[in-house]
Amino acid sequence: MSGMAGTSSIEGKGTELTTEIRHVRDDDADAVHQILEAPHVVRGTMRLPFQSPDSVRERIRHVEGVIKLVAVRDGRVAGYGELVTYPQVPRHRHAGEVNFIGTHPDFRGHKVGRALMQALIDMADNWLQLSRLGLIVWTDNKPAIALYQEFGFAVEGTMPQYVIIAGSYCDAHMMGRIRGEASPFPFHARTGRRDGRRRQHICDAVLAFCRRQPTFQDMCTGGKGP
Ligand SMILES: CC(C)(COP(=O)(O)OP(=O)(O)OC[C@H]1O[C@@H](n2cnc3c(N)ncnc32)[C@H](O)[C@@H]1OP(=O)(O)O)[C@@H](O)C(=O)NCCC(=O)NCCS
Repeated sequence: MSGMAGTSSIEGKGTELTTEIRHVRDDDADAVHQILEAPHVVRGTMRLPFQSPDSVRERIRHVEGVIKLVAVRDGRVAGYGELVTYPQVPRHRHAGEVNFIGTHPDFRGHKVGRALMQALIDMADNWLQLSRLGLIVWTDNKPAIALYQEFGFAVEGTMPQYVIIAGSYCDAHMMGRIRGEASPFPFHARTGRRDGRRRQHICDAVLAFCRRQPTFQDMCTGGKGP
């Protein structure tokens, strides 16, 4: 979906439905509030339950460097996503964060999250020229982790007891994506199967690197060289 300007449509993979992606508007506040208040969204994010609609109106206001998109399906706001960038920070303006992504309860599993991610990544890669994207996700949030991995994010670290969810601590993954670099361990989200060809490619590269190291050659040839 590159070539986006203002509004764009994305065909859902494996579905006839079309999702319109556009920047959020003031009159979307009630619909975005419904998304932010949904129990699965509260659980997957830092939000507290029972937040006022005013706080949502504040949240969707324009902030320099923050891209706030809605996904619209059949005329309804079905999802909301935010990308935070740092255009005024010279040493960090190549980087951005997926700060939020959430789907309305009526549209979960209908490729709305995918359409939003696709739009945010297109914006980052093809318009803002960001080379690094990062995000934080709770380690028990399987749907979100699967979605991110499909878009090339890899787990870069894990922070123990990062967040409280309904009275219990949960760890959080830091995930990152370097533009043009595939995730080192890509696998399909639902099947969990790894991409064998890519894994072989990585093994070959590691072996080739080791072969170039003198100690490895010594081990193989008794120090006489190849
Ligand atoms: C994560 C979330 C945005 C996914 O949105 P969605 O519209 O339901 O997802 P989609 O239908 O677009 O699915 C896209 C991909 O997400 C993953 N996914 C979605 N639901 C999944 C599930 N129940 N189990 C495993 N993977 C799932 C899959 O990789 C899927 O691709 P596939 O259908 O080709 O296998 C949604 O579950 C949500 O709003 N969660 C609450 C908010 C949240 O936790 N946000 C992330 C904070 S870090």
